[in-house]
Amino acid sequence: MQETFDKAHAVLEEIKNAMPANAEEVEQFRIKYLGSKSVLKELFGCMGQLPNERKKEYGQLMNTLKATAEGKLEELKAGFENGASASREIPDLSAPGYQFPMGTRHPLSIVKNQIIDIFSRIGFVVAEGPEIEDDWHNFTALNTPKDHPARDMQDTFFLTEDKQWMLRTHTSSVQIRKMESEKPPMRYIFPGRVYRNETISARAHCTFHQVEGLYIDENVSFADLKQNMLFFAQEMFGRNVEVRFRPSFFPFTEPSAEVDISCFVCGGKGCPVCKQSGWVEIGGCGMVDPAVMENCRLDPTKYSGFAFGMGIERITMLKYRINDLRLFFENDLRFLRQFESAF
Ligand code: PHE
Repeated sequence: MQETFDKAHAVLEEIKNAMPANAEEVEQFRIKYLGSKSVLKELFGCMGQLPNERKKEYGQLMNTLKATAEGKLEELKAGFENGASASREIPDLSAPGYQFPMGTRHPLSIVKNQIIDIFSRIGFVVAEGPEIEDDWHNFTALNTPKDHPARDMQDTFFLTEDKQWMLRTHTSSVQIRKMESEKPPMRYIFPGRVYRNETISARAHCTFHQVEGLYIDENVSFADLKQNMLFFAQEMFGRNVEVRFRPSFFPFTEPSAEVDISCFVCGGKGCPVCKQSGWVEIGGCGMVDPAVMENCRLDPTKYSGFAFGMGIERITMLKYRINDLRLFFENDLRFLRQFESAF
């Protein structure tokens, strides 16, 4: 009698552990345990030989067996229907995973991140501002006279007829926002997109990117500015690069200068990159005009500072010898895939 119970328990274990490898084996499982001549039917047939007092127990065991076999069959069928592997071979867990195609960074992002990295090493912190600006932050607070050509419809995308709102023409507007809201010492760089109403060509676009810098503290000098520009130029273009300042004019800096670096391609001898001059321009800079500080309620007798600005497209074109600005905005993958970088 105990044998019958033992056999039933053994079958239960068998059912639980069954591992059919494909749809065909699932069918065999069904026939074996649930078919018309199944092991279970045979076991049911043994009921009659059992003493009455154990029939109930045996009946319960039979129900468990049947429910287990049915449940397992459902589970197996569902598994194979869902396209699970027909074979239960263990996959090679050390095999390399599927390759997902990875994008590359845009060259402008690479260079922007490099510029941020270089300046952050000497204490500059990134700050950003809105691309839609008002007259005060883009022009007036920056000492730009009412009749300045930049305020012309031909140069600026105004958003309202009264010319009070516009797409910012430079990131200098963020200088004003920072100077208005914080007290020196402050040392920021402002990367961002700017807009100018220019005809699109190989050398100009209606939208491009700048990184501007601002350092204000007590006793900041023009020599500090020059040293910062030299540090940047050498980190970006190589240790042998020299910096040259040419006198220039910006309404918001005094004195102002244009920053040139000795040509990193020919070392200053003259080549197509520097147009045989030995020098290439990388940006503008100057000492923050006292009038600008006053506009932001900073005391120019106490503080002094410098600002600089450069075009990210220009630096990128120099660095990678790209000769057409439009390539940056066309999103041609053949162009974009050429740039790999840690940045
Ligand atoms: N804002 C100037 C431009 O867009 C660049 C600049 C910034 C010059 C800061 C001097 C100081 O041309």
